[in-house]
Amino acid sequence: MLTQIGQKRESNFSEPIGMLEDCHKRIQYFLRTLVRLAEAGQQRDLKEDERAALQTALRYFREAAPKHTADEEESLFPRLRRIDSPQVQEIFAKVDRLQSDHRHADEQHSAVDAIGSRWLAAGHLDPQEGARLAALLGDLSELYREHIPLEEKEIFPVAKNVLSAPAQESMGQEMAQRRGVVT
Ligand SMILES: [Fe+2]
Ligand SMILES: [Fe+2]
Repeated sequence: MLTQIGQKRESNFSEPIGMLEDCHKRIQYFLRTLVRLAEAGQQRDLKEDERAALQTALRYFREAAPKHTADEEESLFPRLRRIDSPQVQEIFAKVDRLQSDHRHADEQHSAVDAIGSRWLAAGHLDPQEGARLAALLGDLSELYREHIPLEEKEIFPVAKNVLSAPAQESMGQEMAQRRGVVT
């Protein structure tokens, strides 16, 4: 679905920072899907394939995306905080901002999930709920538009630079465990 010929291959648990970037692509993909479906749902009932796409996108944000947040908050940021270097000190304020973005995004995603679930159950999107859903998704798109580049351009390059190979390896192992994968 996301991998196409000619695209960079996906990272694995031995490249944990690359995996975080792959997750960003999925977040962006499923968010675009929700925006598209919410637009359609305000005009008409969804077709069968669209209902399936809605279910998949909601499930992604309910089950997989929180693991990405945990990868950053429990596996990446604490390892960075343990490193005493001016380069890392400089990004701490940005890490605080990212964590508050995560809390805000969690709340918005739960509201999206509640509306999406009612929509699927009822078979049609209530107009007021449709407007609220569009506003929530607009807000989330705005949040990720700054959040993802901040991580990819300012935090991850520093992490790749300052985290030792064993630190990155143990980070990858934690990420694997979080997904029930044995490495
Ligand atoms: Fe993040
Ligand atoms: Fe992220």
